[in-house]
Amino acid sequence: MKLPFALARRFVAGESLDAALPALDPILGSGRFITLDLLGEHVPERSRAEGFATEYGDLVETLADYRDRRGAPPEAVGISIKLSMIGQVIDTEFCEANLRDLLDRAKATDLFVRLDMEGSDITQSTLDIFERVYPEYPDHVGTVLQAYLKRTYGDVARMAELNARVRICKGAYAEPATLAYPGMPAIREAYMDHARTLLTSARYPGIATHDDQLIEAVKAYTTQEGITADRFEFQMLYGLREETQTDLVRQGYNMRTYVPYGTEWGPYFTRRLRERKENVFFVLKALVKG
Ligand code: FDA
Repeated sequence: MKLPFALARRFVAGESLDAALPALDPILGSGRFITLDLLGEHVPERSRAEGFATEYGDLVETLADYRDRRGAPPEAVGISIKLSMIGQVIDTEFCEANLRDLLDRAKATDLFVRLDMEGSDITQSTLDIFERVYPEYPDHVGTVLQAYLKRTYGDVARMAELNARVRICKGAYAEPATLAYPGMPAIREAYMDHARTLLTSARYPGIATHDDQLIEAVKAYTTQEGITADRFEFQMLYGLREETQTDLVRQGYNMRTYVPYGTEWGPYFTRRLRERKENVFFVLKALVKG
């Protein structure tokens, strides 16, 4: 049974790009940057993967056009994609070819493409594909690393060696204790270790979190080390901590809002509910309002 979209509206900007676009104006207008995310994951059929590859390509062009009409700078608008939607779980060469086509269009329009990170079964494959394309598109592609994974210490060191652009997040998938730290204190500690390395040794990291402890720790660390606010950005999800997002902009920080849209919002929506009981409350409130 498909749930009504009204439930997800707080976290998802619309079921189509046209429906989502009006949500972008106030975000850009408040001085924030945007990354658009067409929702979906793990596409096992070649024809559907081709369809998503085409949709991503069109998205790049629509957004570049939107950005230029708004007179926004290139870094203000980007996209986040999931390789598992364009063939990663079918055939990695097919996926890489789809990605290269997309990056050609991104480079031509000067738009940044972030490869989201999914479950640990495809972490290595995501990083392998990233490393294969990165030398040709160093300014237009970056990836994501997850602090809950124990392997991330090695991956952060490698990304610093490449001077790649990394988004660091805690990690949103259910992972076994053999691979991931189970408790919040250990995840926060790892997160800050990685944030420090990326801030000092890699290019323009994305600090993706809604967690005040981490935000304050990053602010304190960058001030102490003389890392200026133009060398990194904070990132948060659409519909969460709106006031904190605009406060950070007022304090002089770069802030990017991750804006998901699309009909396949179920798994994304479920992860947001699992993360935080207050999110369940927002949904119940929307239900009551009708
Ligand atoms: P978390 O949910 O751990 O909460 C920690 C504390 O922060 C809370 O106790 C509370 O104090 C505060 N807090 C959190 N939310 C709040 C709210 N709404 N209001 C007030 N206080 C709040 N994951 C992944 O696996 N792959 C990916 O590619 C991405 N990409 C991504 C992009 C962006 C821009 C973001 C922000 C996140 C991701 N994630 C992700 C998700 C990420 O891994 C993680 O699951 C969520 O960000 C939740 O972790 P947090 O650190 O944000 O807060």
